[in-house]
Amino acid sequence: MSLQELERLYTEAKNALPEITEAAALENWENKFIGRKGAITLLVRSVGQLPKEDRAAFGQRANQIKSEMESAYAQRADLIRQRELAKSLEEGEIDVTLPGRPTPTGGIHPATQTLREIYAIWADMGFQVFRTREVEDDQTNFEMLNIPPHHPARDMWDTFHTTTPGVILRTHTSPGQIHAMRRFAPGPIRVILPGMCFRYEQISTRKEIQFNQVEGLAVGHNIRLSDLKGTITAFARRIFGEDRKVRFRGSYFPFTEPSMEVDVECMLCEGKGCSVCSGTGWLEIAGCGMVHPVVLRNGGYDPTVHSGFAFGMGPERITMLKHGINDIRYFWGNDLRFLEQF
Ligand code: PHE
Repeated sequence: MSLQELERLYTEAKNALPEITEAAALENWENKFIGRKGAITLLVRSVGQLPKEDRAAFGQRANQIKSEMESAYAQRADLIRQRELAKSLEEGEIDVTLPGRPTPTGGIHPATQTLREIYAIWADMGFQVFRTREVEDDQTNFEMLNIPPHHPARDMWDTFHTTTPGVILRTHTSPGQIHAMRRFAPGPIRVILPGMCFRYEQISTRKEIQFNQVEGLAVGHNIRLSDLKGTITAFARRIFGEDRKVRFRGSYFPFTEPSMEVDVECMLCEGKGCSVCSGTGWLEIAGCGMVHPVVLRNGGYDPTVHSGFAFGMGPERITMLKHGINDIRYFWGNDLRFLEQF
């Protein structure tokens, strides 16, 4: 042990320190030089083994070196800690100027959109929404509507039966007429009855086994065919456009008398005739008529005092006409590529 050795250690320690950039390496350095068993520490302690005359000079130099190295170590440790902090801050940095990740949102089904449009138009004309059941009894779906069992008119509605005899899925919204009349008789009625209907159909581009209908019913004193025609025409013009021509064709339904079907001028060919209107220039949008006296009586009204009109329309069909959709199966196929277009 000598001053030379001490100076050599000093130089080694001093030169090594600036190279150190990590906490682990710094700890090694500390252990090697100034820790409890570090080379410099051991030298400082060994001063007693020197010849007396050398002790003072060696001890002084050794202590000086030790304290210089200790403060250099502290500075270095500080620097490394700051660098590590800065590094971790940088790594975890959030760039608040980046655009957000888009969240996909759902939309309103095209059938629902049309339904809402239809509700709004009828609401403007004073018609309230009245909802009735989708599972009906044969009585209300047919008999109360003047369609007795075995009546040939039953062929107009292919029916889904349940395992309970007499309980069926409604084939149209017309049984809602009976429910509404029994609820409000003998008072006046102005309601629409929207909802899902079911028919045992061969599914095709034009026919589905389930579809919506919007039934309408007005009952009161002095309600006439001209009221029905005027009201339906007002509706058709609002949903298809102000200049749209409307025509009424005589038809037959057991629960209305007289009965009519409503056609509007084809909006795809403007009445010239195309494949959608099968060359006729007209598109059928609804069935309607004056409520049959038998039906009024079944609903609790006296047909010599009260009269009424009723209509039934298909909102899916109206949606197809408005948007030029050529296949009704899209509506309940749940294909997002179709639904996202609306
Ligand atoms: N319920 C008839 C159908 O499903 C439509 C209709 C309703 C006709 C009301 C006249 C009056 O075809």
